[in-house]
Amino acid sequence: MASAIVYTEFGSPDVLHLIEVPDPVAARGEVVVRIEAAGANPIDAKMRSGKRPSPPITEPRPVGFDGAGIVEALGEGVDDFAVGDRVAIRDGRGTYASALAISTENLAKLPDSVTTAEGAAIGIPAGTAYQSLRSLGVSGGDVLLVHGGSGAVGQAAVQFAVAWGATVIATASPARHEQLRELGAIPVAYGDGLLDRVREAAPSAVTVGLDCAGTDEAIETSLALVADRERIATIVRGPDAASFGIRAFSGGSPVPLTDQELAWRAEALPETIALLSTGDFVVDLGPQLPLAEAAQAHELMESGAASGKIVLLP
Ligand SMILES: NC(=O)c1ccc[n+]([C@@H]2O[C@H](COP(=O)([O-])OP(=O)(O)OC[C@H]3O[C@@H](n4cnc5c(N)ncnc54)[C@H](OP(=O)(O)O)[C@@H]3O)[C@@H](O)[C@H]2O)c1
Repeated sequence: MASAIVYTEFGSPDVLHLIEVPDPVAARGEVVVRIEAAGANPIDAKMRSGKRPSPPITEPRPVGFDGAGIVEALGEGVDDFAVGDRVAIRDGRGTYASALAISTENLAKLPDSVTTAEGAAIGIPAGTAYQSLRSLGVSGGDVLLVHGGSGAVGQAAVQFAVAWGATVIATASPARHEQLRELGAIPVAYGDGLLDRVREAAPSAVTVGLDCAGTDEAIETSLALVADRERIATIVRGPDAASFGIRAFSGGSPVPLTDQELAWRAEALPETIALLSTGDFVVDLGPQLPLAEAAQAHELMESGAASGKIVLLP
């Protein structure tokens, strides 16, 4: 038997339960991954709580999209992965588990130099950051404002944009400023007076705004600074983006991602692993908890009490 975290009703973190499930079986084009780490993302908690609308629950619902582990069995037609390969998982359905059957399209191999926890921490954050910056056409010469720059998506966005030659201003609480400086960003505290502080910090006009915070302040500041609304996006306020005349990438947006955007999200996983393996990308790891403590992981994530990516260990 395998074990998995599930919920049967929407609600607070304590709706999450560890149950025994039959061992997964790999269908054609799939492998079974023995999961060694699962990355917890805010979307996991939003779906569990019902804040992010999803279909009615008719059977125990698995949790988690990101993970990493070891290929344990191959389905028919799989020839690009072997039993024993270390892999990172993106867009898995139910990575809070001891094992998962998953299409090889959602996997990327992990070299020895990248840890399992790092591999489990990048699927959604790096994929979202990479796709958002590509969609916004960020390149050298841009001055990018990232709201929520100290979060998992924000830090990934800072690192990609800096690598592509942009100047990056990132909002964060003061305790995270040194960390952002080390990633190459100009940190600015969010809160009252943000607009003036960004104006003061920016070496020239801000040309792109990416909201990873979801506050009115973040959106209003981007609107005040960035001339071209096509170059302002939110990943949090999807339902409201059209009313502000800005773009949204998921985050509850009624506008689905394009095929190109989905392809960028997929491409980000091997790209990020390659950068991690050469030391050109860092993942900010937070608490690591046993899988059975998924409820505590969600409490920590929702309260903002933990800093760094929370990882669950089956
Ligand atoms: N659309 C998508 O596809 C997509 C994908 C991934 C995530 N998201 C969403 O994007 C958001 C960020 O995700 P994440 O994984 O990066 O979360 P995270 O790692 O938990 O980071 C959240 C960050 O928000 C910052 N923050 C808190 N209050 C803020 C404020 N008033 N102004 C600016 N920043 C503030 C915190 O900064 P300090 O610690 O410095 O206070 C923290 O670093 C979540 O809402 C998530 O659901 C959307």
